[in-house]
Amino acid sequence: MATSGILRPLAVIAGVGNATGTGAATARLLSKHGYSVALIARGAGSLRDLADEIKDTGGEAEPFPIPEYSPEAISDAFSAIRNKFPSPSTGVNGRPLRVAIFNAAQGVFKPFLDVTPQDVRETLEVNVTTAFTFARESILDFKKNDIADGKRGTIIFTGATAALRGNVMTSVFAAGKHGQRALSQSLAKEFGKDNIHVAHTIIDGQILTDRTRSYNDGASNWETNADVRLSPESIASAYLYLVNQDRSAWTWELDLRPAHEKW
Ligand SMILES: NC(=O)c1ccc[n+]([C@@H]2O[C@H](COP(=O)([O-])OP(=O)(O)OC[C@H]3O[C@@H](n4cnc5c(N)ncnc54)[C@H](OP(=O)(O)O)[C@@H]3O)[C@@H](O)[C@H]2O)c1
Repeated sequence: MATSGILRPLAVIAGVGNATGTGAATARLLSKHGYSVALIARGAGSLRDLADEIKDTGGEAEPFPIPEYSPEAISDAFSAIRNKFPSPSTGVNGRPLRVAIFNAAQGVFKPFLDVTPQDVRETLEVNVTTAFTFARESILDFKKNDIADGKRGTIIFTGATAALRGNVMTSVFAAGKHGQRALSQSLAKEFGKDNIHVAHTIIDGQILTDRTRSYNDGASNWETNADVRLSPESIASAYLYLVNQDRSAWTWELDLRPAHEKW
């Protein structure tokens, strides 16, 4: 997406963790490519640090911390984002929302008979209900946009192997990720005719983040061997590719795995 004059397009990213994973890598890359970035996550401190880091490198970023991933919290965050970055028709600081990335996830990994109704409710709340609201708020803004480079906007949902295949210990998580995948496919079909591009990714392997580094502590060269784990920066490059895709050849679903992944 080319930036015209000082009017940068806006990207909203929900799910930034402690800024070592896919959400943060995508925010950094989109900023380098001319986007203002609105960052949504629960950790106010790490969100502020990431926004400051992006600003220090000449970008424009604002943190929008939320107390939890719920429809209400996401709608409140979008209201705050619209106040900070009004649409171009309403103010000189206007930024058209062009990219929305739902990267947040709630994972419960338990044997089925240990799963509680609360586990199910919380997992579906984050992965499905909140994703619905995130998509609704994004699409409402995209629909106000002119078509630029063939689209009004792009939404990307970060999926996982569990979006395609359930497994032992993933009865709840797989239900949430399957639901989000179904949502994304329905949106891709409904809003393609409005030139809104909806994409879903299957991240089929472990991503190198602080969290997965701690699980793999001691595993021989897991961290340094790019054959066996995904790099958040490489996923971010794939997301930028999706954002820039020409409308005559849009991807709905993209699967990404490291070279030596068994699948
Ligand atoms: N890591 C993997 O190996 C892997 C593999 C396949 C798919 N995925 C998918 O990738 C997305 C996450 O990207 P990422 O793994 O690269 O990490 P990330 O960008 O750092 O995002 C982590 C996400 O997980 C949330 N989260 C929930 N519990 C957490 C905890 N205890 N510690 C840290 N974060 C927690 C974070 O919430 P806040 O934003 O509120 O902090 C954030 O939304 C998810 O959709 C996930 O299903 C990950």
